[in-house]
Amino acid sequence: MTIYLDNAATTPLDPRVLKKMLPYFSEKFANPASIHALGQDAFITLEGAREKVANILNAPIDSIVFTSGATEANNLIIKGLAEANKNENKKRIIISAIEHPCVREAAKRLTTLGYTIDYLPANKQGIVTPKALENLMNDDVLLVSVMMVNNEIGTISDIKKLASVAHRFGAYFHSDAVQAVPYLNIDIKALKVDFLTLSAHKFYGPKGVGLAYINPKIKINALILGGGQENNIRSGTHNLPGIIGLSEALYLAYKERDKYLKKISKLQIYFWEKLKKEIPEILLNGSWEKRVPANLNVLFRYIEGEAILMDLSQKGICVSTGSACSASDLRASYVLKEIGLDKNYLNSNIRFSLGRYTTKAELDYTVKALKETVKRLRAFSPIT
Ligand SMILES: Cc1ncc(COP(=O)(O)O)c(C=O)c1O
Repeated sequence: MTIYLDNAATTPLDPRVLKKMLPYFSEKFANPASIHALGQDAFITLEGAREKVANILNAPIDSIVFTSGATEANNLIIKGLAEANKNENKKRIIISAIEHPCVREAAKRLTTLGYTIDYLPANKQGIVTPKALENLMNDDVLLVSVMMVNNEIGTISDIKKLASVAHRFGAYFHSDAVQAVPYLNIDIKALKVDFLTLSAHKFYGPKGVGLAYINPKIKINALILGGGQENNIRSGTHNLPGIIGLSEALYLAYKERDKYLKKISKLQIYFWEKLKKEIPEILLNGSWEKRVPANLNVLFRYIEGEAILMDLSQKGICVSTGSACSASDLRASYVLKEIGLDKNYLNSNIRFSLGRYTTKAELDYTVKALKETVKRLRAFSPIT
């Protein structure tokens, strides 16, 4: 038996999504850039997928740029905007201190173009507040980037209010919304963001495809140059099966949202209550109220998260100690450091991320297994 509680790292492909994708690997294989009839059919399909996504996100059709994922989309926005504005006098970029590494690393690279990077603190609850942003703002800021939902602790920041603060000071605003689907409503017009990114494999779509929402009125430079696809912003032959998969997965995620949210919220409460009852000396990292129902990031006093992870893995349970990208990196989480976690416990945490296929029986089994694991590891623990 395998119990998968790592849905924030990636989700399984929904079989309904796979079914929609399959013809585009075989009989409908043509390149949407080809002029002949097959190519034109592919082009119509591509533009249909773009329209479907734009409608769900309440965004103009020409604002959706398909990419290979959110890492590329975040790099495109951050580096592309900075490069297009390198001769202007706005030379500061503000990113939150709990951003995903692809935002952090892309921003760091901009120092080579003369930009200064400022880190916007999150509070102890793991939330980035408009007040904190106001304290850092000035009219020399080109871009502010704050994620909608943090990938490690699942906490939610108020993107609409943050975007409004950035705009008041004449800066652009970007939000990495990768972990927000379908928990939050992503309405581009209502949020008033300039840029936003999504990744299909986080919502039961395929890996290797994502999108950037880019306000068409804002000039950014392309990152990948070539044949001029995606309105010259992202060259390269379209991954049509992936794009079809992304659009269908997004459609299903929002169509089935209400029912799913009810189910997963109940499971989250059930799991957390049971964990607290069965296992002593544990704490929840980040706000309980302002977090997505898929996430529980839990501190287990006196033991290493890595040891828990390995033990659970042997029992068929898949969890993570932090973000997927840092799973092989034993350094303490910068997100947990940022929210002020006791330094003795920076390596004592497990992220459980529930998903569409999680069942109550699986959570019962996980608590039972964890109880035994934690008891045994604590018996050896040198930390008291
Ligand atoms: C918040 C966040 N941003 C960006 C990414 C990167 O997305 P992708 O896997 O599509 O490159 C991830 C993936 O873990 C993420 O959680």
